[in-house]
Amino acid sequence: MAKNVSILNGPNLNLLGTRQPEIYGAETLADVEARCREAAQTLSMTVDFRQSNHEGELVTWVQQAREEAQGLMINAGAYTHTSVALLDALLACQRPIVEVHLSNIHRREAFRRRSYVSLAAHGMICGFGGHGYVLGLRALDRLIADGA
Ligand code: DQA
Repeated sequence: MAKNVSILNGPNLNLLGTRQPEIYGAETLADVEARCREAAQTLSMTVDFRQSNHEGELVTWVQQAREEAQGLMINAGAYTHTSVALLDALLACQRPIVEVHLSNIHRREAFRRRSYVSLAAHGMICGFGGHGYVLGLRALDRLIADGA
């Protein structure tokens, strides 16, 4: 079975590498994408890796993933903590969903501890920088194989 996975990144993640490096590290989003592509190859997956600063565009991409992908991994950035629209799209997605964050959101400001995305995700990985995306892809591979 073809394993196409959609990897969506939300606002400000295009600034990785220069954005608060003490929190997010020195890796750029292109570096994270390269990690994902390498991991995907070992898992015989294809990945569609995207980033947007716009909530509605992310909603549209989640809707598309339902048609085009067998699984979804999302780092919704700040929309994680605010977006009911994104939550509703994820709840309608009918695909295994892994939530990922570069930083440990439980070790930061209190408002980052609430995640709307978590209400729709099978699981969440945070605090491991770009490596978390690799861990997330492995988890997604297992979920897809299990027919989750
Ligand atoms: C983030 C954590 C969010 O709280 C923040 O708004 C981000 C990045 C992370 O990857 O650690 O933009 O999702």
